[in-house]
Amino acid sequence: MLPFKDKVAVITGSSRGIGNAIARKFAAAGADIVINYRKAGGSSQEQAELLCREIEGSGRRALMVQADIAVKDDVKRLFAETGEKLGRLDMLILNAAKAPFKPFEKLFERELRQLVETNYLGNIFCIQEGVRLLEKTEGRIVFISSLGSRFYNPAYPLGSMKAAMESVVRDCAEGLRGRKILVNAVCGGIVKTDSFKVLRQYWEHIDMLPDELFVEPDEIADVAAFLCSPESRGITGQTVIVDKGLSNSLFRAAIGA
Ligand SMILES: NC(=O)c1ccc[n+]([C@@H]2O[C@H](COP(=O)([O-])OP(=O)(O)OC[C@H]3O[C@@H](n4cnc5c(N)ncnc54)[C@H](OP(=O)(O)O)[C@@H]3O)[C@@H](O)[C@H]2O)c1
Repeated sequence: MLPFKDKVAVITGSSRGIGNAIARKFAAAGADIVINYRKAGGSSQEQAELLCREIEGSGRRALMVQADIAVKDDVKRLFAETGEKLGRLDMLILNAAKAPFKPFEKLFERELRQLVETNYLGNIFCIQEGVRLLEKTEGRIVFISSLGSRFYNPAYPLGSMKAAMESVVRDCAEGLRGRKILVNAVCGGIVKTDSFKVLRQYWEHIDMLPDELFVEPDEIADVAAFLCSPESRGITGQTVIVDKGLSNSLFRAAIGA
C-alpha cells in the first residue's frame, strides 16, 4: 500500500529536523520528493544529499533544490524545477523557518525584516508559485506551525508569524476552494531538533519538562501525511495541534494541581 504513489511533494526546509522526517515519511508512502534547503555548501546541504540518496535508494525520485524562500526569484526557480523535472505537484509542505530567539524589544531591524521575509512572505511566495501546479492535481498545502501562534513563548518572536500564517491558512482554504486545493496546518509542540538546541538556552527550565511531553518529528510527519491523504478530504482551513497534550496541561501546571 503506497498511498502517495506517483505523487510529488515539495517540502521546504527538508534537509534536517521536522522537514527531513516529513520527506522520509512521504517517500516511504510512495511520493517523489523535492528537498529544499537554504544554505549552499554547508552541513545542511550534506544532510540534503544524504536524504536525496536515501530516497533514491528506496526507488523514489528525489530532487534537491537550494532556494531561500524569502527570495521570490529562488521560489520561482524551486517550483519551475519541480514542474520541469518531476512533472507535477500534489503536496506542498510549508515547513522552513528561521528566526532569532530574542524578545521583540531587542530585535534589530535586519532581524525583524528576516523574521517577516522568511516566515511570512516566504511562505506566501511558495503558496503563490505552488498553486499554479497544485491546481492541476487538486493538491494539498500543509503549513507547519508551533504553539507560539497561540501562547506566550519567551524570546520567540516567530510565534507572531505562526499566528499570521494560521490566519493565511484559513484565508487560502476559502480562496483556493474553487480550485479544489485543501489548505491546513499542523501546530507542533516542542520537538528536539537543531533549533530547539538554541531555544533551550533561553528557556531555562525546559529540561524539567517530562520526556513524554516532547513531540517526535515523526509524530508531526504522520499528521502532515494524514492531511495529504484522501481520508482528510473533509478538512480544510484547520490547524491540528500535535503537542502530546502540553498546551492542555498548562493551566494544571500553573496552579500546581
Ligand atoms: N523544533 C520545534 O520544537 C518545533 C515545534 C513546532 C513547530 N516547529 C516548526 O517546524 C518547522 C521545522 O522546524 P525544525 O526545528 O525542524 O527546524 P530546523 O531544524 O532549524 O530546520 C530548518 C530547516 O529549514 C531550512 N530553512 C531555514 N530557512 C530557510 C529559508 N529561508 N529557505 C529555505 N529553507 C530554509 C533549513 O535549511 P538550512 O539549514 O540550509 O538553513 C532547514 O532545512 C519550522 O517551521 C518550525 O517553526 C518546530
